[in-house]
Amino acid sequence: SKHDSTDQDAVITSRDVAYGLGDIDWDSLGFALTPTDYMYVMKCLQGQSFGKGELQHFGNIELSPSAGVLNYGQGLFEGLKAQRKQDGNILLFRPEQNAMRMRMGAERMCMPSPTVEQFVDAVTATVLANKRWIPPHGKGSLYIRPLLIGSGAVLHLAPSPEFTFLIYVTPVGNYFKEGIAPIHLLIDTEVHRAAPGGTGGIKTLGNYASVYKAQGAAQAKGYTDVLYLDCVHKKYLEEVSSSNVFVVKGNVISTPDIKGTILPGITRKSIIDVARSQGFQVEERLVAVDELLDADEVFCTGTAVVVSPVGSITYRGERLSYGNGGVGVVSQQLYVALTRLQMGLTEDKMNWVVEL
Ligand code: COI
Repeated sequence: SKHDSTDQDAVITSRDVAYGLGDIDWDSLGFALTPTDYMYVMKCLQGQSFGKGELQHFGNIELSPSAGVLNYGQGLFEGLKAQRKQDGNILLFRPEQNAMRMRMGAERMCMPSPTVEQFVDAVTATVLANKRWIPPHGKGSLYIRPLLIGSGAVLHLAPSPEFTFLIYVTPVGNYFKEGIAPIHLLIDTEVHRAAPGGTGGIKTLGNYASVYKAQGAAQAKGYTDVLYLDCVHKKYLEEVSSSNVFVVKGNVISTPDIKGTILPGITRKSIIDVARSQGFQVEERLVAVDELLDADEVFCTGTAVVVSPVGSITYRGERLSYGNGGVGVVSQQLYVALTRLQMGLTEDKMNWVVEL
């Protein structure tokens, strides 16, 4: 087939392509790492372009203690999923979008990045090499985690002399422990995720570790996660630690617009198009926290969280509830539309799905 890459043929042995599925309980997948067989590794010196990478056995990597990523956080990650169709074939969802987002982030972080073609080919090779870890149809997905890191040694505050593009994959189920039941959010009025001019709009590593404290505090009080507000006015919705946010009021669905502090989610972008195709009016704009008061539904979107309905949001001690303890009808409808498309159960009119 067109995906018989030489990289792959060189490393996969008959031991590894052992038939059948990996030996795990496919019915109890959460969002945690299950080590798989192969990872993709490609290196590049500063000032040069990525050339050729290879599949290696999944395992630890060696880095200088003074690697740029370890010392100064020069790094990006991506997230996308592969799913198994009913007929067993494998589907990727809009992988070129992740490639383009990584290229944008790399520009901001002064790193070279793989071309869209290199990225998508590497994702494809890694998924095919780890085929036995793709959950059976309907049981979850293979989460694909590309990384781009400053792997060379550096002490001065400056870009790393060498960069590594790496992809590992792992089978996953639901991200939130609630599964597909509504989640409960706390608006943190003190902690902000990103500032104008900062790096909130790219998937750089530091945007994620910096939420742990607020997230942990919220979880200790029984909330699922934190919804952050903008840091200038402390008034407009930004995003949740791991996902974008949408507010539903009648036929209008609103979501914070992309203005540098919000991660341009691929699920976000897809849900906007799906909702419009279903007749909703979708607005990308400043969404004030006050709008939560009379919203019908709220939901979060992300590759990991998919479409997660929000059951309540607590703001300044006041708890606002949505969906009468269940999943809101609009959230449910969009979740079904998106996941059916990603699993190959509905016609892909947008040309988003890549069948391997
Ligand atoms: C994803 O949704 O893929 C992400 O990258 C979010 C991450 C915090 C799990």
